Amino acid sequence: MWMTTLGRLRGCGRGKISPMTFDALAQDYDVDFSDRPTARTLRGLVHDRLRAHLSPGAAVLELGCGTGIDAAFMAGLGAQVTATDPSAGMLHVAARRAIEGVRFAALDVNALPSDGFGGAYRLVLANFGALNGCGDFSVLAAWLSDRVAQGGVVCMAIMSRFCLWETAWNLLRLKPQRAARRWRGSATFAPLGGAPMTVLYPSISEVMRAFAPYFAPARPRGLGVALPPSEMFGVVERRPWLSRRLTGWEKALWSRGWGAPLADHVWFEMVKR
Ligand SMILES: C[S@@+](CC[C@H](N)C(=O)[O-])C[C@H]1O[C@@H](n2cnc3c(N)ncnc32)[C@H](O)[C@@H]1O
Repeated sequence: MWMTTLGRLRGCGRGKISPMTFDALAQDYDVDFSDRPTARTLRGLVHDRLRAHLSPGAAVLELGCGTGIDAAFMAGLGAQVTATDPSAGMLHVAARRAIEGVRFAALDVNALPSDGFGGAYRLVLANFGALNGCGDFSVLAAWLSDRVAQGGVVCMAIMSRFCLWETAWNLLRLKPQRAARRWRGSATFAPLGGAPMTVLYPSISEVMRAFAPYFAPARPRGLGVALPPSEMFGVVERRPWLSRRLTGWEKALWSRGWGAPLADHVWFEMVKR
């Protein structure tokens, strides 16, 4: 979804995505992304996975919670959620939901505190690109290993290094640079003439390697294999027959755990040893 939201930015700071970037996006984030029918379908698939890992009273840590939609969902299932984000703007919008069972806090995965956020978590969630600004997955994995209960699960939806839809779509439109923008592992955007910002695209093996010392990985799944990235939601949503067809394929692929190397996001589940 970063392409949709970044497309709205003007005049943000140079360098990696900063919390201020998302401050500027927070107010419209749900309209631009979360409320779109395609995003709802994809989030529904994530929720099906989360349901399997949650029980009433389970302690949950969410990283990059954005506007708090997943926190609300998990609290609705009886979990005790610590929902974090470095963006004050996102936390402000999320806090408006005033959800029972959710505590909001500021946390940047590139500046993890040595103390705090203890909780023997049963589940850690970082959904829809919350970790595409993470500079070092090894540091994150070690930090989480001290905080996740044995048998607990870390679930992450991370924007992938290669997205078939994005590449094919941009090649068709004769935009080869855009088609290949993720392949080097980072891409710099200059949204609407504003200052450039960099989004990171870790490879599947990089994430797996970082977590391997502490967590046993399940086979990664593709999220957004048949359904396109947010920048192309309109292409599908304007054609209900196409949307229905692709949604059916997406659900079938998701249930089989196929498509990670081609998807917009890769869904990782890591079980604490
Ligand atoms: C694309 S939004 C996803 C929000 C939410 N997880 C969702 O599913 O809608 C990415 C989120 O990651 C947060 N984020 C960006 N950089 C981060 C960092 N270094 N540490 C933690 N979260 C970060 C942003 O503030 C934003 O809320």
